[in-house]
Amino acid sequence: MKTEVITTVGEIRDRLKIARDEGKSIGLVPTMGALHSGHTSLIHAARSATNFVVVSIFVNPAQFGPTEDFERYPRTLEADRQLCDAVGTDLIFAPPVSEVYAPNHRTWVDIETLGEQLCGASRPGHFRGVCTIVLKLFNITMADHAFFGQKDAQQARILEKMATDLNLFTQVHVCPTVREADGLAMSSRNRYLSPAERYQAPVLYRTLQWIKEEVRRGERECHTLIDEIKRRLFAIPGTRIDYVQIVDSNLLKPLIQIDRPALAAVAVFFGSTRLIDNVQLDPVSPGE
Ligand code: PAF
Repeated sequence: MKTEVITTVGEIRDRLKIARDEGKSIGLVPTMGALHSGHTSLIHAARSATNFVVVSIFVNPAQFGPTEDFERYPRTLEADRQLCDAVGTDLIFAPPVSEVYAPNHRTWVDIETLGEQLCGASRPGHFRGVCTIVLKLFNITMADHAFFGQKDAQQARILEKMATDLNLFTQVHVCPTVREADGLAMSSRNRYLSPAERYQAPVLYRTLQWIKEEVRRGERECHTLIDEIKRRLFAIPGTRIDYVQIVDSNLLKPLIQIDRPALAAVAVFFGSTRLIDNVQLDPVSPGE
């Protein structure tokens, strides 16, 4: 059966009220569309935790910088709908920009410190845009549970913190990164890659696995690990490093030594396509 697409706030609210009145719990999978197997795994997680699943598809202008890819971001509603049909989704919420942001919209959600490093440093205003749209989606749907991918580790941490700090009703869940067979993390932006760039891109996964293995062997100096990763990435023609960082998993502050649970995160341009990936490092339980 074709999954129904709803485009207005009023209608999605009415439909979800009926579902709630029937005793159903609501699971929300917020996306920007161009759905792939990473999203499929989030929909599966929502299906197992709740009994009414909404996938939102909205390319949120507020989280793109002026020189970023908002205009060319893939918009593939029909294909997305087919994926939702196949996986099992109760409703798609795909509003136009005008339904979400009135011309006089003036209220934004800003989060302190957690957004200063990693993607927050290279994409000013990005997390303000993410937090604002996610809070709006939580308020519009009043979902019981919402599902996000660990591939966007900083986003996931920030949204968990927002949910705690603002006592949000919706519970945030973070699901493992889904990868291609060669290790490349699933991303809607992978479709921008030329065949040559696609061939190079799994280097991100390989370098992160190398860090994990070095930490397992006892390496604790962040600069040693970061320098080696940068050296390896510099050697690849056509790439440009945005950042290579090792941060405290909780506070997202750069570490000198890996003496607590940490996150190694990279952002690299392959041609004009910026890809991110990360791995969790746990010096206490090596090798896990
Ligand atoms: O991860 C994404 O696709 C987006 O940042 C999100 C969470 C849907 C907000 O627009």
